[in-house]
Parts: sequence; structure tokens; C-alpha cells
Amino acid sequence: MITPIAGFSKLSKKEKIEWLANTYFQTNETVIDTLKKYWNSDETLQKLHDEFIENTISNFYLPLGIAPNFLINDKLHAIPMAIEESSVVAAASKAAKFWLDRGGFTATVLSTEKVGQVHFMYFGSTEKLHTYFSSIKSELIEATKHITQNMEKRGGGITDIKLRDKTSELDGYFQLHCTFETVDSMGANFINSCLEQFAKTFKDNAESFEAFTTEEKDIQIVMSILSNYVPNCLVKAEVSCPVSSLTEGETMDANEFATKFVRAIQIAKTEPYRAVTHNKGIMNGIDAVVLATGNDFRAVEAGIHAYAAKDGRYSSLTHAEVKDGFFKFWIEIPLSLGTVGGLTSLHPLVKLALEMLGKPNAKELMQIVAVAGLAQNFAAVRSLVTTGIQKGHMKMHLVNILNQLEATDAEKKHFINFFKDKTVTHSAVVNAFNAYKVAQA
Ligand code: MEV
Repeated sequence: MITPIAGFSKLSKKEKIEWLANTYFQTNETVIDTLKKYWNSDETLQKLHDEFIENTISNFYLPLGIAPNFLINDKLHAIPMAIEESSVVAAASKAAKFWLDRGGFTATVLSTEKVGQVHFMYFGSTEKLHTYFSSIKSELIEATKHITQNMEKRGGGITDIKLRDKTSELDGYFQLHCTFETVDSMGANFINSCLEQFAKTFKDNAESFEAFTTEEKDIQIVMSILSNYVPNCLVKAEVSCPVSSLTEGETMDANEFATKFVRAIQIAKTEPYRAVTHNKGIMNGIDAVVLATGNDFRAVEAGIHAYAAKDGRYSSLTHAEVKDGFFKFWIEIPLSLGTVGGLTSLHPLVKLALEMLGKPNAKELMQIVAVAGLAQNFAAVRSLVTTGIQKGHMKMHLVNILNQLEATDAEKKHFINFFKDKTVTHSAVVNAFNAYKVAQA
């Protein structure tokens, strides 16, 4: 029987691994070998990775690929993508090349506002609370000077604090709704530190606000935390071209392609079941670049999906139209990203990825990430409305199936060639592989 362990975090890495192998595995030597295979031989580098989180036992690899030929605002980029799903990088590269020949992508940052909130309970006179807030607002900002000094030197800081009455939704619930400019950092630590200071100053000073009764002085702070919903930190990316240039040796006529493409977007706008998958495809591109550049993809995911539902129904993040003979396709998403702080100067591959992108500032990275999402969606919808998705996807997945079958390099070469003009399915590959083995035996 497995029993709980006390003081696990205090064990050495070796002890943790031994405990794990002995407790949860039958063949504990294989487990230890597998974990060690993924350690970096450079001990300093391994230690750096060990210290990113707690209880590290090994590294978990994801392939880092690049999608070249992305022309964004007239600058040519090779985009780094960290992702495990076969066909994502290939699809991005294909879309990049398609639009390279048609003028490339245009991207614009529309706004850069970050948000944080102090959530608190107050059960007294609302009027007195508003008077107290007006009297204390400048003091709230003043009390964070030790935190905001450096950010202000870089052109950022606190942009506003508002008192919000949420009592119609929850009895006694109010907020300090705070907005920030964090320039090239994602700003999570900066925002949270400011919020915790606001909460303390707000509560402490209430004690000496004479108009308050004893009960009213007892402002109950519930929590102070940034919001990953950043609907005013927006970036837009787009492509456009004459409908007549939407062909590429395809069997489908350009007009028919444009019409079907726009319909596919309309369907994703109206049908949530489709919208979720449509947006998932967009996130294939976005997450891969966000991860490769050391940013928080969970924050980005949460914020973007909330934005997709901002009108009360989950909908497409991309939009398309045909007007006056022109095809236009665009995306508008909230993105809170940093190119300084966090992992950006720590993780050697993140540093490399950012250098590959020309050391972008946060706004430039927002543009690149939005383009990656738009390109990914273009590639997916283009396949869906023409050949279907499985043809390209299974071609890329073929190597994974062959690896599962432990095919040699020569066998892989043989089967990639063999399936060039055939439909790839899991069973087709297994059958062909087994037949080949029998014939060779
Ligand atoms: C697969 O990872 C993503 C797609 O399903 C996206 C889409 O359907 O638009 C191909």
C-alpha cells in the first residue's frame, strides 16, 4: 500500500527519484535510466532547469521547430515554435509562403492596457465609500512609489484606479479595478505587488477615515490579483489580396475558394462547437510561439478564450470577407506578453528564439504571435474547405506511426515514398509495415 510522504520537497533530487521509482514502479532501474536520459550533460544548465520549479526530476522535451518566410510589416521572420503536434509547423510554413507571394502580413497593436483588481467586502454606506476612495486615491498611488519607480523610468506604471460597486451581483462586493502599462514586461509580478500595496493602504487608512462607523472601517480584503482578461491589450493581424490571386495550382477555382473560406469563418462565428475547434487551431500557432519565447501560454489561452466569448457567445477569433473583388482575412486578440523579465533572459533557448526574431519589444512580439495564429487558421481552413484536413495531417503523422513500429531510417524512407500517392491511416501503415517485414524475413 502506498503511504503519504512527509518532507518530500526537502529530499535531494536523487532521493526524490529513488522514492518515486520504488513507490510507483515495478522496474525501478528503467525508470531512473529514462529520467536520466533527459538530463543535460552540462551540469550548470541542468541546475538552471532544475531550479525553474520545485521537485524537478528530469526535463520534458518538446520539439522546437521554425517556420520561415513570414513577411510581417515588410520584415522577414523565421518564427520559432515549440509544439508536439505533427503538421503545425508545416502548416504555418505553408501559409507563410502563400502570403509571402501576396504581400505578406500586416499587424498593428491597438492597445496595451493590463488589469488587476483588489476584491473586497464592505457593508456600509456606498456614498461614504466613494468619498473615502476619492480622498485616498492619490495616496494609493503614492504608497507604491518604491515598486513603480523603475517601471516609470521605462515609460510604464499605474494608469488608473477605479472603485467598482459589484453589490448587485454579490452582497457587499466592491473592487479596486486598476489598470497598468507594463511596457516590455508581461508585468504579473509588478501588478500583483502594486495590488497588494493598494490593498494594505486602502484597509489601513480606512481606520482613520472619520466619516466611517466602526463597522465601516472594517474593510475586508478578499484578494488582490492581476486579471488575465486583457480586452484592452489588443493586437490585429491581417492579410488581403485580390480574389483572383487566391489560386495556387489548386483544383478549386479562386472565387469558389474565397466563398467557401468566408462561409467556413461565418460558421465558426455562429456555431460554438465549430468555433472551439477553429480557435483551437489558431492556438496551435499562438501557443507554440508563446512557449518558445518564454511566455505564459496558460494566461494567453485563458484571456483569448474569454475574449472569444465577449459578446455572450463563444465565437471565432478570425474574420473574413470578400469585398470589391478583394479577399480580406484578419484576427483580433488580446495578448499580454513580455520580452524582458521571467524566463526571457534565463532560458537559453528562449533567448535564442527572441534573438532569432530580432530581439522584439513586447508590441512586436504581440504582432508576430497574432500572425502565427492567423497563419495557422488560414492553413487549417484552407485544407478543410479543399482537400480535407487528414491528407496533410496523416502525411506528417506517418513518421510517428513508423516510430511506434520501431522502423529503421531506411524503412521510414521506404514508407514515406510508398505512401506518397496513398491514403495514410494507422491500420494501412501497420498492415503495409507488417507485410514488408514478412517479405524481408
Ligand atoms: C487540429 O489541431 C486543428 C484543426 O482541427 C483546426 C480546425 O479545425 O480549424 C485542424
